[in-house]
Amino acid sequence: MNQVVLVTGASSGLGKSIAFHLHKLGYTVYGTSRNPEQYSETFPFTLVQLDVTKKDSITQLIQTLKEKEHRIDVLINNAGVGITGPVEETSLDAMRANFETNFFGPLAMIQAVLPIMRKHTDGAIINITSIAGYMGLPFRGAYSASKGALNIISEALRMEIAAQGIRVMTLAPGDYATDIASRRYHEAVIENSPYQNTYQESLNTMDAHVDSGNDPIEIALKVAALLRKKTPKPHYVVGSFLQKFSITLKKILPQKAYEKLLKNHYKL
Ligand SMILES: NC(=O)c1ccc[n+]([C@@H]2O[C@H](COP(=O)([O-])OP(=O)(O)OC[C@H]3O[C@@H](n4cnc5c(N)ncnc54)[C@H](OP(=O)(O)O)[C@@H]3O)[C@@H](O)[C@H]2O)c1
Repeated sequence: MNQVVLVTGASSGLGKSIAFHLHKLGYTVYGTSRNPEQYSETFPFTLVQLDVTKKDSITQLIQTLKEKEHRIDVLINNAGVGITGPVEETSLDAMRANFETNFFGPLAMIQAVLPIMRKHTDGAIINITSIAGYMGLPFRGAYSASKGALNIISEALRMEIAAQGIRVMTLAPGDYATDIASRRYHEAVIENSPYQNTYQESLNTMDAHVDSGNDPIEIALKVAALLRKKTPKPHYVVGSFLQKFSITLKKILPQKAYEKLLKNHYKL
């Protein structure tokens, strides 16, 4: 198999697992990191520099791939960061920065890759979103919004581009054991804030979920299976039964009943 795959954010977590697995399957894999030189371990795939929030960095990488491979068949838009905080107290700059990585970054990658991808009519783009993007989670509003926005714009792109033979889909993970919690932007808990106790309690719940999350290999296996699909669906979800069921519940329960469930879960 000589398909060229670009996996953003492959230095750790889900991206690393995806890149390892696709390499093992015989794909030519380029994984990315903002600072590839900081990793002393040897990756079996090529780890290249990329910051999805920086235009020059994207241009440079695409140029390198053009010269070396003359094609990009698959883009896995995986790079992403977490953010927590009460909506009222989270700085807009922090929210904008999160959207730069989680929303505009993947879009910039898509815009840069498509002109090369469409030269071969079998391209695929998988945007890694999140189950959190299917609902506004308390104290994760900006994260939910960034992933929800990526979900929705993927639907538009998918229809626009279908006739060109390029498959677009999203894959929303539940909780997986990665370093994402330790790298999250946390808006500080403000003393005497009306959210002090509920926010702190929610932070504890969130961290416990990720720490006890599933093995990232599940996501890698799913990505490989999706790449084999000739006519994929727009959206896929991977996670525990309860996490997946939360999306179904949102569709079928009256809105207030669903909100009550979430509030109970987050002790609000
Ligand atoms: N883990 C979960 O439970 C979970 C659940 C739902 C969705 N997700 C989503 O899955 C994706 C991967 O998350 P993860 O859990 O594997 O997190 P992670 O271990 O923290 O990995 C994040 C990756 O993104 C890269 N990255 C961060 N900012 C970047 C930027 N500006 N430009 C380019 N690369 C950047 C990091 O690479 P460098 O630091 O080396 O640049 C790293 O490789 C994210 O989109 C996340 O939102 C994760």
